[in-house]
Amino acid sequence: MTTETLSLVGRDLISMRDFTRDELLAFLDEARAFEDFREPILLGLVLGSLFFEPSTRTNLSFSGAMQRLGGSVLGFADSKVSSTAKGESLADTIRAVENYCDIILLRHPLEGAARLAAESTGLPVINAGDGTNQHPTQTLLDLYTIQQRRGRLDNLKIAFIGDLKYSRTVHSLIDTLAHFDNELFLISPPTLRIPAEFLEELDARGTVYSEDEDFFAVAKDVDILYTTRIQQERFPDPVEYEKVKNAYRIDREGLQKIGDEITLMHPLPRVNEIATDLDDYPGSAYFEQVRNGVTIRKAVLSMLLGKPRV
Ligand code: CP
Repeated sequence: MTTETLSLVGRDLISMRDFTRDELLAFLDEARAFEDFREPILLGLVLGSLFFEPSTRTNLSFSGAMQRLGGSVLGFADSKVSSTAKGESLADTIRAVENYCDIILLRHPLEGAARLAAESTGLPVINAGDGTNQHPTQTLLDLYTIQQRRGRLDNLKIAFIGDLKYSRTVHSLIDTLAHFDNELFLISPPTLRIPAEFLEELDARGTVYSEDEDFFAVAKDVDILYTTRIQQERFPDPVEYEKVKNAYRIDREGLQKIGDEITLMHPLPRVNEIATDLDDYPGSAYFEQVRNGVTIRKAVLSMLLGKPRV
């Protein structure tokens, strides 16, 4: 199936579980054509951008993508100045905002908030991260970066390291990798292991994986190392955060022991889990991921709004 025969017009982008492998590949194929594309195909269209949690990359790359394609963006800079602060429900907020825009982007601290928003409006809704659940456009840009770096999405050995319990970027990407044929290594402190539902999904699809605490025990076998920040804001007990906050730190000396073939990824922001001496390491791809975010989001906006390149 090609991009031409797949229509994603008007679809919501809430969970990677809602999309087939062909649909995922269609987003990536289309993105390649958007690398340097800057024509006003979205002229007159408005993105309603609602962030109830902090963001730099997702917020600004969606705004940049919309504006580079001729569209415009509205939203509040801080959810504390929206009527949510007066007790308005999310559903009512969405039913108001749908009158002002053509597509809605939502980041929210509660799992399921993006699904609720999509059920509250006929406009397409894009999940920009809902609690610990999903972050679909991060996953698309991660896949795009993996394709660029490794030339394929199958037959890879991919290690996830850090906070696998609370990281939505990990949850989204692992769900999606279940569509492909790879071996996964899940490296975390015992208290931050990936929730069982994600392992059940991997089991159901026959994905080979193992869980471990020691990255260096498996490192030599790995093509990609996907690191994550320990998500301080999700811990109910600050004492528990203190116990694991420095669980893993990768630096150049450590990575050089493994070899120079590994691709190092991170959704960012980082705290201390990747040393800055890795920023110019040939395998480091995390700033490439940031750049690819604009490309992917241009393609997503074009496809969901039904405004193709001309
Ligand atoms: N990767 C990511 O979602 O970054 P932001 O929180 O800055 O949007």
